[in-house]
Amino acid sequence: MESLKYDIDEIVITPRKLERRVNDLAAEMATGLQSDNLVVIGVLRGSFIFLADMVRWFYMNDMHPRIDFMIMESYAGTVSQGEPAVSRDFTVDVAGADVVLVDDILDTGRTLTKATAHVVAKGAKTVRTCVLLDKPSRRLVPCEADYKGFVIEDFFVVGYGLDYNGRHRELPHIAKVRFADGAQNDDASA
Ligand code: XMP
Repeated sequence: MESLKYDIDEIVITPRKLERRVNDLAAEMATGLQSDNLVVIGVLRGSFIFLADMVRWFYMNDMHPRIDFMIMESYAGTVSQGEPAVSRDFTVDVAGADVVLVDDILDTGRTLTKATAHVVAKGAKTVRTCVLLDKPSRRLVPCEADYKGFVIEDFFVVGYGLDYNGRHRELPHIAKVRFADGAQNDDASA
């Protein structure tokens, strides 16, 4: 999809707030997730910074998971192309493991639902889900994350791993994408 004219000058979540919340989330998980067979699976590409920061806090909380990644694709620009599919699978053996699935954002719920079913089918003992951001107003399939960083309203965001057409992942904060023509995240039911 062609890029529309847009600005990303509005910071929604600062680096400091991200750091504090990710630290808190890891501590929360350390209390509820005592396992000697813990596997963390990041859903790429958006989760890479969130996951990297979070597992360093895991270390501080004496949690020592195996870590792998999978790629699921369904978005072009801000537009969901429908049913997400696994385009690169993880290779770690999750049979009998306690898995934490980490994604950047929970939007329609399709990606996390599909990813969870995928991990369950591979024999995980338990699957918990963790997202940095949650946009509950956009849900199309019933799906709740076990751990979530921030609840946000219905606008498209970039930064801290999240992209618009492959760009802006490197921002240390979360910024709102403001489209010149007022067009927004209008793909919800597309
Ligand atoms: P679903 O709709 O399956 O979507 O819950 C999860 C995936 O949608 C992408 N997504 C976004 N990416 N800014 C982004 O950079 C957003 O505001 C946004 N909303 C949804 C993202 O890839 C996520 O994993």
